[in-house]
Amino acid sequence: MSAGSSNASARKPLLLGLDLGTGSARALLIDPAGRIAAQAAAEYPLSVPRPGWAEQDARQWRDAALSAVATVVKKARGRSIVGVGLTGQMHGSVFLDSRNRVIRPPLLWNDQRTAEQARWIEETVGRSRLIRLTGNRALTGFTSPKIIWLRQIEPRRFARLRSVLLPKDYLRYVLTGVKALECSDASGTGLFDVRQRCFSSEVLDALDLSPELFGPVYEGTEVCAKVSARAAALCGLAAGTPLVGGGGDQAAGAVGAGVVQRGGLMISLGTSGVVFAADDRYRYERRARLHAFCHAAPGLWHLMGVMLNAGGALSWLRQTLGGVSYGRLLAEAAQVEHGAEGLMFHPYLMGERTPLNAPGARGSFYGLTLRHGRGHLVRACLEGVAFGLREALDLVRSLGVEAQFVRLCGGGARSTLWSTIIAQTLGLPITRLATEQGPAFGAALLAGVGAGVYADLSDACSRAVRLGPTIDPDPAEVAAYDELFQHWKRVRSLLEPLYAER
Ligand code: XUL
Repeated sequence: MSAGSSNASARKPLLLGLDLGTGSARALLIDPAGRIAAQAAAEYPLSVPRPGWAEQDARQWRDAALSAVATVVKKARGRSIVGVGLTGQMHGSVFLDSRNRVIRPPLLWNDQRTAEQARWIEETVGRSRLIRLTGNRALTGFTSPKIIWLRQIEPRRFARLRSVLLPKDYLRYVLTGVKALECSDASGTGLFDVRQRCFSSEVLDALDLSPELFGPVYEGTEVCAKVSARAAALCGLAAGTPLVGGGGDQAAGAVGAGVVQRGGLMISLGTSGVVFAADDRYRYERRARLHAFCHAAPGLWHLMGVMLNAGGALSWLRQTLGGVSYGRLLAEAAQVEHGAEGLMFHPYLMGERTPLNAPGARGSFYGLTLRHGRGHLVRACLEGVAFGLREALDLVRSLGVEAQFVRLCGGGARSTLWSTIIAQTLGLPITRLATEQGPAFGAALLAGVGAGVYADLSDACSRAVRLGPTIDPDPAEVAAYDELFQHWKRVRSLLEPLYAER
């Protein structure tokens, strides 16, 4: 590279994506071609004050986010950062009082304490009316049962409540002093009219919640605030740098995977497993077994199936088998034929969301014989997760949405064996990303559109997202996996009555 061209790339504007994950805050600076200029992460703990509860300290979020941003700003050595996009864990509740102080530690997306409140909401609004108004059921993980929990269980704190923010939107408040939300994340509150892309006054009325609790709602690419002088002094960003709406972690992840048009499907194999289908029409599943949410891409929606344990199930198995390396376990699984010689696994290690919505579901191996060894257990685990993804995809298809292309992301996508099993189970060609940077990357692209670096998200993705090779399914394997999938469902239907007994 000549000195001239390296000077030119040093002059290119940078975009900042900030991801408030469950384990850490991650700041990522990219140039318009998607090349990484700097990255940094800062961790924080998860607090489990009682079984099934999950909380974090919002001050630790703030400190970690500011420190990660300060690190990348320093690494950028004065290059201009022209836009900031936020993303992060969805559904969490940041409760603020009249002086914008955090009232109690936020309850997180995986907190299970609000089963009673979720039931109460569905009784009070009416389950089918709630689904008609919001596209979704009241799930324990969502935000609305958390607000009702505060009102019922901690009434003194509820009396002080003036604003509710989602986790990443709290960072927006820290960076800009503006309290605002954005459509994709607001969809997961359980109070949002996903079709109209605004809060549902009918649901808020029915639950006797004030609309004043929520700030204005923006689209993912829309500029909604600017970095304040106070935050600039804390993290080194220039005061006045624009922030866009951003997106929930799955929606921003989909943007980063180039899934920004109708027919795009993202499969994410992280701790959880996600099937995310982008659409240019709002639709919802009659029983709301899929989430129906706004996309962070303006004018798009998405249907989403969430399995609570995908990579999480493999990681559990690895621990249980004595911590053998993933490489070795996957190599052993590759020696075993599809179907693991009659062994199957249902990966419900923490209950399941899609399609069962059953907190009482439990994991199981079925079909064990003396012949089965470690490779079989691992193979059955990989296949069980693939079958769960197939169920979510079948629900998506039942609504008339067909995948035109599939992008596979998340840690599990690093395994060619697992990616191939998924391609055969879904019967679809699957493309992995050449380099994967997760939701922070998508948030930076959203910022790039808001800052005028890109014309729109299609332009952003065609300039910045790099794809790896595609895995084409073998028709004979597709037929074999289809038969195995039907058998896996048959066994599950026999176990299902036991899940309800818990
Ligand atoms: C989506 C969901 C997760 C969390 C944590 O509905 O619960 O994506 O946002 O990652």
